[in-house]
Amino acid sequence: MSSIRRILALVVSISLVFALTACSGKKDGASSDAGKLEQIKQSGKLVLGTSADYPPFEFHKEINGKDEIVGFDIEIAKAIAAELGVELEIKDMKFDGLLAALNTGKVDIVIAGMNPTEDRKKAVDFSDIYYREVQSVVVRAESVDLIKTLDDLKGKKVAVQKGTTMEAMAQQHMPESEIKGLGRVTDVVLELKNSKVEAVVMEKPVAKAYVLANPELKLTEIELSPEDTGFAVAVKKGNEDLVTKTNEILKSLIDQGKIDEFVADANKLMEE
Ligand code: ARG
Repeated sequence: MSSIRRILALVVSISLVFALTACSGKKDGASSDAGKLEQIKQSGKLVLGTSADYPPFEFHKEINGKDEIVGFDIEIAKAIAAELGVELEIKDMKFDGLLAALNTGKVDIVIAGMNPTEDRKKAVDFSDIYYREVQSVVVRAESVDLIKTLDDLKGKKVAVQKGTTMEAMAQQHMPESEIKGLGRVTDVVLELKNSKVEAVVMEKPVAKAYVLANPELKLTEIELSPEDTGFAVAVKKGNEDLVTKTNEILKSLIDQGKIDEFVADANKLMEE
């Protein structure tokens, strides 16, 4: 009997030690930003960083006389804010400034059609993938019959948004073209319209959106598929609770077919 007691006492003390170390483990985590969800809830708002030059994912649209940022990514952000019971605040900035904004705490989350590339993973954490994409080449309508392969762009100028996977892909696959990086996709498109460059590389849905809005532009048959393909939500490193929550929300949106609905809605908004 007494030996059973001894064993019991031993089991109790071992579990106490475990419980204590588990607790202290949690405390350590808390000092490095765990509890981000709590912070967001307490502040009453989720601050989203995005680059609103990217229809159908995020773009400006006048609704009832008011300029608003809308799109597929924005719907995802709204779903996260709603789930946390907070308001959504949107900060529109250049794409190549988004990760720094996360790391300096200017924004809580980045949703901007962003691919979780190996390089970016060194700086921030990412959710699961919520969308997969292909890159397309857009040209002025008059040159669509002349530009059919990447070879046709040798020695020519090609514009891309700075700091994106398009810039990386263009540099890699068009070594003999002159690649010009600009901060905003709207400027990339202007550069093409003004004949400053011969082509631009954009993600296909985005390319389609700009071609729709600019009949003087056309989509070529050229497509590039990046290796680490797909869009994910970015958060500051260590905000594990926010990643877990975001993944839960993304999964339920995907399961309910909401993601496809958001894409369709955003496309409709663009055409209006
Ligand atoms: N998917 C590309 C990347 O991750 C481009 C995203 C650009 N997004 C934007 N909102 N302008 O680099």
